[in-house]
Amino acid sequence: MAEVEIISVSKAFGKTQALSDLSLTVGDGEFVALLGPTGAGKTTALRLIAGLEQPDRGSIRIDGRDVTGDAPADRDVAFVFQQYSLYPHLTVFENMAFSLRAPTRRVAEADIRAKVQEVARLLHIETKLDNKATQLSGGQMQRVAIGRALVRSPSIYLMDEPLSSLDAKLRGELRLELKRIQVELGATILYVTHDQTEAMTMASRIGVIEGGRLMQIGSPREIYENPINAHVAARLGQPMINLLPAALFAGVPDGAETIGARTEHLTIARDGGDVSAIVKRVEHLGDQSHLHLDLAGRPVVTLADPEAAFGAGDMVSLRLNKPLFFDAKGERVAA
Ligand SMILES: Nc1ncnc2c1ncn2[C@@H]1O[C@H](COP(=O)(O)OP(=O)(O)OP(=O)(O)O)[C@@H](O)[C@H]1O
Ligand SMILES: [Mg+2]
Repeated sequence: MAEVEIISVSKAFGKTQALSDLSLTVGDGEFVALLGPTGAGKTTALRLIAGLEQPDRGSIRIDGRDVTGDAPADRDVAFVFQQYSLYPHLTVFENMAFSLRAPTRRVAEADIRAKVQEVARLLHIETKLDNKATQLSGGQMQRVAIGRALVRSPSIYLMDEPLSSLDAKLRGELRLELKRIQVELGATILYVTHDQTEAMTMASRIGVIEGGRLMQIGSPREIYENPINAHVAARLGQPMINLLPAALFAGVPDGAETIGARTEHLTIARDGGDVSAIVKRVEHLGDQSHLHLDLAGRPVVTLADPEAAFGAGDMVSLRLNKPLFFDAKGERVAA
């Protein structure tokens, strides 16, 4: 595995500026997630590293070597695509062995067999190796698609929302497995997702990308606790951070126009808080409840203890506890 550096890369498609001055380093053995909404430029970033697109400006280095002008085949990256496609007429084994059989690689048949079996075991598809790719469930196909990349030992694995087509349960399982495998292999992974849970749980660092710009990069904890602006703050946290006019509260710092209040910044009681709100709706999710409030015409969503006997129409009192503050442009203001 190797360190991969994206240095001041920009890329436009016609009038669309897909990436603007992106710089990012994925350390050897590191798991970095690029988190951003649709159209943010995530896939474009991966395609540039893989050599499937050429940057307008900037360069790409793998293991210290400038590969910007190199063909994809000379870059030694493995790509798991957003829309995975297996060879339907081939078995799972043959699908996974495919890249190892490239004539330039000259991997011995016994080694191919051993490698495919090892990766199939990691992914829990070892009993499916003789199945045709079409004789699999969606989740199994997705595992094969990941397995096809894992049989190789490239400089970096580029993974483009590899779990997005799966149901929630399977996504949760594979998330754990993928992280375990990455640690086991010491793999370098750049993983693209718009799922905050995947980014939070698997990555050692998260890059938050929006509109082709990398807004912030840091550990999941840094990004969550110390977002540089309101966009980044809204990317992580369930329910989403509540962005409220600062004017509704007393004692906010100079320049603060917006208060960012996550669940942990809000204490809800019957009375004795700073401001009053009305309970509009309580969503019971089993282990927790989402409390939907109306605060001076603004929606506020927060977690509540399922035991707390709030109901629609109740008046409650909110108290802020070290929330985040943002200025008129959405940039962070010190408390
Ligand atoms: N080949 C292309 N031709 C024209 N525009 C493109 C092309 N590829 C990407 N774009 C545009 O560049 C922007 C970034 O696209 P990209 O595919 O990188 O987004 P993404 O973050 O991967 O989004 P998603 O989460 O929907 O996959 C989008 O506005 C997209 O429409
Ligand atoms: Mg994409």
